[in-house]
Amino acid sequence: MPLVKAPDEASTKTFYIETFGCQMNVHDSEKVIGTLEQQGYTKVETEEAADLILYNTCSIRDKAEQKVFNRLNDYKKLYKQGKRFGVLGCVAQQEGEKIFERAPYVSLVSGSASYRKLPEMLVQLELGGQRITGLDDRQTDQTFETEFTARSNTHRGYITIIEGCDKFCAYCVVPYTRGKERSRTSTSVLAEARRMADAGYTDIQLLGQNVNSYRDTEGKRSFAELLVAVGEISGIRRVRFTTSHPRDFTRDIVEAIDAVPTLCDHVHLPVQSGSSNVLHHMQREYTREWYLERIAWIKSARREISMTTDIIVGFPGETGEDFEQTISLLGEVQYDAVFAFKYSPRPNTPAITMADSIPEEEKSIRLQALLDRQREWQRANYAKHIGQEMEVMVEGYNHARGQVMGRTSQNKTLNFTTRQPILPAVGSYQQVRVTQSFPNSLAGEAV
Ligand code: SAH
Ligand code: SF4
Ligand code: F3S
Repeated sequence: MPLVKAPDEASTKTFYIETFGCQMNVHDSEKVIGTLEQQGYTKVETEEAADLILYNTCSIRDKAEQKVFNRLNDYKKLYKQGKRFGVLGCVAQQEGEKIFERAPYVSLVSGSASYRKLPEMLVQLELGGQRITGLDDRQTDQTFETEFTARSNTHRGYITIIEGCDKFCAYCVVPYTRGKERSRTSTSVLAEARRMADAGYTDIQLLGQNVNSYRDTEGKRSFAELLVAVGEISGIRRVRFTTSHPRDFTRDIVEAIDAVPTLCDHVHLPVQSGSSNVLHHMQREYTREWYLERIAWIKSARREISMTTDIIVGFPGETGEDFEQTISLLGEVQYDAVFAFKYSPRPNTPAITMADSIPEEEKSIRLQALLDRQREWQRANYAKHIGQEMEVMVEGYNHARGQVMGRTSQNKTLNFTTRQPILPAVGSYQQVRVTQSFPNSLAGEAV
């Protein structure tokens, strides 16, 4: 049964969307939602209420894609009720038309590089089309730019400045699922940032799989210069950027953070391993020493810049000695957060055929050992903030605990109490004195 409705019923087409994976996916969904609304669809909060059900999927690790396939199992009944299903994102691109075999009631499969064509794909769907695909655009030079982004937060918003990845680390699906690296012009990024500032946004996060690999196709600005330009837009109080790749991390990024107070004092710089040997096999194209030199630049800044990282444990061939080098690197750098994952073999990637795979059990032991050590380091690091006064952006309320939830420029959670009878509004900024610390958050009192 096609989704076609009489023109006067057009506004009753409904859709539900669920998003898995990284911030790029979250923001892509905001753009997909805006595009669908522009096409006359109304977003609903439950699958039951929806004509069209979309999953924007992630395939970075195996559990992520398994979750999606588990959900796809129930479709037969819902399909008979007239509902239609679309799989978007990285699992869609990775599995392609195989999804139709595994889940025959799916009508649409599209990777992120094809979202520009969503309006056409929706028309096909409404005309009763089956097996509609957007899978062939990974070599495109175009980015998915739309003025119809439905941002879910009215104070903080994402802007994608670069899509795709050309780095081909040995373990990673992203270059296959997101296609080749392509940057937007700085003119268009700045125009979007200004529109957001005019609409009341004060906090902007620039996004890219490797955000600092950004190359302005007009040649007007380096990445650091783009950061500065966004930070200088009137009304913008906080600019974040993620994820930075060590290979493209240049000293002028640190200089920009030092010079422009609106640039947040936080850098997420995934190292993946502390062993140069493992880094070599991962095809990261830097060594431990080279990475630590970038960390030294960050540490020599006049502002205290918070650092966070990603780690993969149990990459094929990782010896106990290699793993100890990762622990020692964490001890040396003193990160404020570490996102550590067990290596997960991924389809199409070179690492899947590498010898000396590490048993799951050993990966789990290493992961837990790493998290335990890191937790103690973080406990000590967070405790250093006690007595300090910090500015937070108010994010919400925990009424049960009588706390206002806030976030610092360093991206730390700082929840606080206030003696004022009226609670500060979500999106407002507040000075807070830190009175308590935990391994992952701070607590304090409004001043
Ligand atoms: N572009 C970023 C990372 C993007 S993917 C960078 O290169 O730093 C986000 C994180 O997922 C990676 O940093 C890595 O730690 C993790 N990851 C990617 N592929 C993985 C795999 N096959 N197994 C386990 N973790 C993986
Ligand atoms: Fe994946 Fe490496 Fe690209 Fe990061 S740089 S997205 S880890 S291939
Ligand atoms: Fe996942 Fe794709 Fe992001 S694999 S982490 S949704 S780029």
